[in-house]
Amino acid sequence: MSASADVLALASAEFNVSDIAEGTTLTVKWRGKPVMIRHRTDDEVAKEAAVDLNSLRDPQKDEDRVQGDPKWLIVLGICTHLGCVPISGAGDYGGWFCPCHGSHYDVSGRIRKGPAPANLELPPYTLQDGKLVVG
Ligand code: FES
Repeated sequence: MSASADVLALASAEFNVSDIAEGTTLTVKWRGKPVMIRHRTDDEVAKEAAVDLNSLRDPQKDEDRVQGDPKWLIVLGICTHLGCVPISGAGDYGGWFCPCHGSHYDVSGRIRKGPAPANLELPPYTLQDGKLVVG
């Protein structure tokens, strides 16, 4: 059996990211989940690329968490502890802070402090010419 047209339409969603200023995050919805689109500054990109992987709970290179232009980081806004929606641009590492139980994520969405066991998940996406397609 194949999926109906309305189901296929829900499977992916398109967003214009060209108006998102550097250093800010836009939250959109995809399949009922918050997707957070962070337009990172050059300083943020350099800082995340330089993080020592041995200091990470869930070691992952920053370059493995982005596709193409490293200035764009796209994560699911769902804390990997118990599923709360973390606050963008907050916490000790400037990425996300989940006030539920105090998880801090960096500007690569990697868990740095608090009870969450894993980095923020990355949704499937493509990004080209200011057009983001999630799903
Ligand atoms: Fe985020 Fe508990 S749900 S810290």
